[in-house]
Amino acid sequence: MSSIDIRYACEADCTQIAAVNGAAFATGLFLRNAYPQASPAEMIEFRRVHALRQLPDKTTHTLVGVERATGTIVALARWKGAMTRILMNGDYPPAVTLSDQAAALIAKPNSEIALTVCNQGVLDAFAALTKEKHNRYFHEDDIELDLLCTHPLYQGQGIGAAMIKWGTDKADAAKAHIYLQATADAHPLYCRLGWETLDEAVLDYGKYGGEGVNRIYFMRRAPMIYK
Ligand SMILES: CC(C)(COP(=O)(O)OP(=O)(O)OC[C@H]1O[C@@H](n2cnc3c(N)ncnc32)[C@H](O)[C@@H]1OP(=O)(O)O)[C@@H](O)C(=O)NCCC(=O)NCCS
Repeated sequence: MSSIDIRYACEADCTQIAAVNGAAFATGLFLRNAYPQASPAEMIEFRRVHALRQLPDKTTHTLVGVERATGTIVALARWKGAMTRILMNGDYPPAVTLSDQAAALIAKPNSEIALTVCNQGVLDAFAALTKEKHNRYFHEDDIELDLLCTHPLYQGQGIGAAMIKWGTDKADAAKAHIYLQATADAHPLYCRLGWETLDEAVLDYGKYGGEGVNRIYFMRRAPMIYK
């Protein structure tokens, strides 16, 4: 496995974050159906702005996995929910002040950044499903793992598991549960690392004029106290 360091993301990382995210989810159906006319370059810019938007948010912890030998960002994880409360009573994530240019960019609506045409039916169906399951299964004191991905060139080397361990160690120490919704690709990994499948759903993009189906798993991990 490439040796990686895990650290908090900063503004300068967001271009690489977008590239890793785009490569990892390149075959994913959701964004392709939600923004069917977006070019690859527009999708990367959308992902970059999305990453920038998360940084000043004190309820969001964006971590990057950096290959030690090259300094390249190869993996991402985004933690939310009770993580802020658990880590030093809200002193983390470290305060981020964006440059004036980045602050102006994130203030714009998506339609002015890159994505002029969206499939609102797909966006609404995904949001409704996520909200319904979140309301049902996410508990107020849970941590949430909101995003996890590893660049395809680096997958299968234990990097995803290492990014997860960053959070599960903290959750276990604080006796906190971790909620997430998983892709079919990641589902076996989460099962192996202690998550229980609470529910699953199929999102059929054909119903909204798109193509393909996604199976989504809703999962929660109890803290492992006896280690
Ligand atoms: C899921 C993901 C983060 C795993 O990252 P990773 O760095 O490869 O993780 P690990 O090396 O720790 O491997 C985890 C396990 O997943 C398996 N795996 C890795 N990539 C996989 C893929 N694309 N499809 C199916 N299984 C995969 C590995 O074989 C490994 O299992 P094993 O240890 O029993 O051999 C990565 O595959 C990814 O980014 N996928 C696309 C984005 C995604 O679905 N993210 C999860 C959103 S919930």
